[in-house]
Amino acid sequence: MTEVAEIDARKAEFAPLFEPLEIGGRTAHNRIMQAPMSVSYGNADGSVSAKEIEHYGRRAQGGVGVVITENFAVNLAGRQMPLQTVISDEHLPGLRRLADEVHRHGSLAVVQIVHSGRYAGPWDEYERRRRLAPSAVPFELMPGRTVTPQEMTDEEIEESIEAFVHAAQVCERAGFDGVDVHAAQGFLISGFLSPRANHRTDQWGGSFENRVRFALEVVRRITAGTGPDFIVGVHLLSDELIEDGWTIDDAVRLAPLLEAAGAHFLFAIPATFETLRLPANQGLLNREGYALADSKALAGAVSIPVIANGRLGGPADMVNAMTEYNASAVALARAIFVDPDWPRKVAAGASESIRACPCDPPRCLRTQLTGSICGHWPPSAQSRGHLGYDEQKRVNLASDES
Ligand SMILES: Cc1cc2nc3c(=O)[nH]c(=O)nc-3n(C[C@H](O)[C@H](O)[C@H](O)COP(=O)(O)O)c2cc1C
Repeated sequence: MTEVAEIDARKAEFAPLFEPLEIGGRTAHNRIMQAPMSVSYGNADGSVSAKEIEHYGRRAQGGVGVVITENFAVNLAGRQMPLQTVISDEHLPGLRRLADEVHRHGSLAVVQIVHSGRYAGPWDEYERRRRLAPSAVPFELMPGRTVTPQEMTDEEIEESIEAFVHAAQVCERAGFDGVDVHAAQGFLISGFLSPRANHRTDQWGGSFENRVRFALEVVRRITAGTGPDFIVGVHLLSDELIEDGWTIDDAVRLAPLLEAAGAHFLFAIPATFETLRLPANQGLLNREGYALADSKALAGAVSIPVIANGRLGGPADMVNAMTEYNASAVALARAIFVDPDWPRKVAAGASESIRACPCDPPRCLRTQLTGSICGHWPPSAQSRGHLGYDEQKRVNLASDES
C-alpha cells in the first residue's frame, strides 16, 4: 500500500470517531471528549485563572468535540483541593472567558460539578470543620489516616442540592453548554448511593429508592432550573468494587431513572478513592478498558449516550468501544493531557505521531495539589507547568490572574 493509501485507510477506519453527536439539544462536532481531569491550575481564591483558560482552550484547539472541565466545586464546603475552581456568582467573568475560549475552537464546553463531601479539603483542617457525608462513617482519607465526617442535617442536604442547581445556573449564564454531575469516586452524591457510606434511616437512606433520591433530586432540579437544551450529564459510580457496596446491578437500575430525571449522557465510573486501595483493585486505572463492561451494561439500560472512558488504548480500540460496547462516544483524560492534538492527528490519519502516555510513575497524579504536569511533555512545556505543547502553538490570552 502507498503511504497515501495507508493514510486514507486509517482515516476510514477511525471515521466513526468523527461523526457528529447529538447530546441533549446540542451537537458535538465529533465523538471524542476531553474527560474531566483535575489539573489544579485555578486560583487559590477559587476563581478561574488565565492558565486554566489556556489549558482548556488548547484542548479544544486540538480537536475534541466536547471539553469537560475537571471537577469544579459547587460551593466552598464541597471544595477538595487548594487550587480547585469554585463556582460562584463572583467568579462568573472568569467562567465566561473559559467557556468563550473553548467555543472559539469549536468544542462544546461542559463543566463537571462536584461536592466532594467527606473528601472536602484542606485535609490538615479535617478536625476543625464539618465534612459533610450522609452518615458519620469513618474512612481512610489517605493511607494511615482514618477520619470521620459529620452526618448531614436535613438543612445541609437541602442546601447542598441547591448548591448543585445554583452552580449549574451560573455555568449556564457563563455560556457553558452544560454540566456533568459528579456522582462517583466517593464524593458526596456517590456517598448517598453507597450502602456502606450511607446508614441513614430517613428518606435519604436505607432502601435503594432512598439512597438514589439525592442524585435524582440534583438532576431533576438542575434540568428544571436551566434551559431546555442545557446539557446535564452524570459521572455515575458504576460499581464500588467492595463487598456490601454499590454494585453494577444498582447502577443499571438507577441509569433509566437518571434518564427520566432529565440526564443527557452517562459515564460508568468503577471504584472510589478508598476501594482503589484494596489489593484486588490496585492498578485498576492502568488496565486497558477497565470500565467498558460497566459502560456497556449502562448503555443497555438507557437510550441516552453512554460515554466510554478509562484507559481506552489507541483509536482502533476506541472505535471498538463504540461498536462492541455500545458507547456513543469516547472520553480521554490522560491521552489528551499528554497530547492535545490527539483528535486532529487521528483525523488526519497521522495516529503514529501521537505522543503517548503512560509514564511511570505518573507525574499528572503526583502534582495534582499544586498543578499537574506530565512527564512526557517537552522540557519547555514542563517548565511552564501547563499547556503541554510547544510555544508556537501557544494561545495568547489577556491575563486574568486575579
Ligand atoms: C490527574 C487526574 C485527575 C483526574 N481528575 C478527575 C476529575 O476531576 N473528575 C473526574 O470525574 N475524573 C477525574 N479523573 C479520572 C479521569 O476522568 C479518567 O476517568 C481516568 O483518568 C481514566 O481515563 P484515561 O485512561 O483516559 O486517563 C482524573 C484522572 C487523573 C489521572
